[in-house]
Amino acid sequence: MGLTPVFSLLFLSCLHGVSSFTSMFTFGDSYIDTGNFVIMAANPAIPVWQNKPPYGMTFFGRPTGRISDGRVIVDFIAEQFGFPLLPASPQNSSDASEGVNFAVGGATAIDVGFYERSKLVQFQLMNNSLNVQLGWFEELKPSICNTTEECRDRFSKALFFVGELGVNDYNLVWNAGKTEDEVKPYVPKIVKKIAMAVERLIKEGAIYLVVPGNPPNGCSPTMLALRSSLNTENYDHIGCLIDINRVARRHNSLLRVAIGVLRVKYPHTTIIFADFYHPIISILPNPNRFGVTGPDTLRACCGGGGKYNWNASSVCGMPGVTACKDPSTFINWDGVHYTEATYRYIAKGWLYGPFADPPILNAIHH
Ligand SMILES: *[C@@H]1O[C@H](CO)[C@@H](O)[C@H](O)[C@H]1NC(C)=O
Ligand SMILES: *[C@@H]1O[C@H](CO)[C@@H](O)[C@H](O)[C@H]1NC(C)=O
Ligand SMILES: *[C@@H]1O[C@H](CO)[C@@H](O)[C@H](O)[C@H]1NC(C)=O
Ligand SMILES: *[C@@H]1O[C@H](CO)[C@@H](O)[C@H](O)[C@H]1NC(C)=O
Repeated sequence: MGLTPVFSLLFLSCLHGVSSFTSMFTFGDSYIDTGNFVIMAANPAIPVWQNKPPYGMTFFGRPTGRISDGRVIVDFIAEQFGFPLLPASPQNSSDASEGVNFAVGGATAIDVGFYERSKLVQFQLMNNSLNVQLGWFEELKPSICNTTEECRDRFSKALFFVGELGVNDYNLVWNAGKTEDEVKPYVPKIVKKIAMAVERLIKEGAIYLVVPGNPPNGCSPTMLALRSSLNTENYDHIGCLIDINRVARRHNSLLRVAIGVLRVKYPHTTIIFADFYHPIISILPNPNRFGVTGPDTLRACCGGGGKYNWNASSVCGMPGVTACKDPSTFINWDGVHYTEATYRYIAKGWLYGPFADPPILNAIHH
C-alpha cells in the first residue's frame, strides 16, 4: 500500500532537512574570531592589545582572544545548538568533531598580497584572508572525515558561516585616503570572493550556509574619528558617515544578488543572508528599546577619550585605558567591535528573525 500524497510530501520535506546541526564551521574576521588573531600575532610576536583586560570582562572574566567584552555572535549560535564554544586555532585544534572557527581578526575577502602589491597599505598584513582560511579547512579535513562520501555526509549536517567579510577590505581602501567613487569598484570584487567561497564549500558538501553582510561601518567610532569632517552634509541624522554606510549597503545588496544566483544554481542548499546592518542601524537612534542604554550611542565603551571615545594612540587594552562601567549599556565595545549585548541581540535576530533570510531556526525541523 502506498503512502497518501500528503504523507509522502511530509516525508519528502523531512529528507531535505536536519533535525539539528552536528557541527559548525565558521570563516570570517574579528566580528566572530574566537582567538585566532591573538594566536597568530604571538608568532612572530606582534604586540596586540586584544589579549589584555578589559577584553572578556563581561562573560569570561579574562581575555580569550575574542575581540569584545564577552561572547561573539557565533558563540550564541553554538550555545543555541548545544555545541561547545567553537575552538579557534585551526592548525592545532585537538577536537574538530563539533566544529572549528577559522575566522581571524583583520581578515580580508581579497588575498592580502593584492593590498600589498597595489601599495594600498605600507605595512605587512597578517596572511589571514578568506582563501587562507579555506586552506586551513582543507588541512583539517582528515581529522574530521577521510573519504569524499564521509566528508559530504558530515558537511551536509553542519552549519557554515562565511562572514562577516569585507569590512577590512573596505577599511584598507578608505584608510588609504580613497573617496567613495574609488572604493565602490571594490564591491563586486569582494562580493565575488565571498560567493566563490560559498560555492567551494557547497562543492565539499555544505548545505546550510549563513552569509552575513556588512555592518554600518560609517557609524563605528574608529571611522568617525579617523574621517571626522566639519561638513555636516557628510553625516546622516544619527551622526554616521553617509559615504561609508552607502558602500556597506551596496555591498549588502550585491551580496544578496550573488546569494540569489547560488540558490538557483544549488536548489538543495539553504543559503541564509544574515543582516548585520539593520540590527545596528535600528538600535543606534533608540537603544533603550533593545535593552542597550548607552548615553551616547556612537561612543565606544572602552577607549582613550575623544568625541567617540576612540583614540589611535590609546586604544582599549593598553595600560590606563578603561572601559565603561556597564558594557551592556553600550552598542560599541572598542571602536570597531560591538559589545556582547549587541552580539546577543544580533544572534537572536539571525536565529529567530527578523534579521536573517530565512531565520537559521527555520532551516531545521523542530
Ligand atoms: C600550532 O602548533 C605549532 C607547534 O606547536 C606551533 O608552532 C604553531 O604556532 C601553532 N599554531 C597555532 C595557530 O597555534
Ligand atoms: C598567504 O598564504 C598562502 C597559503 O599559505 C600563500 O599561498 C600566499 O602566498 C601567502 N600570501 C602572502 C602575501 O604571504
Ligand atoms: C582517518 O584515517 C586516519 C588513518 O587511518 C585515522 O587515524 C583517522 O582517525 C581517520 N579520521 C576519521 C575522522 O575517521
Ligand atoms: C589620545 O591619547 C594620547 C596618548 O594617551 C593623549 O596624549 C591624547 O590627549 C589623547 N587624545 C584625546 C583626544 O583624548
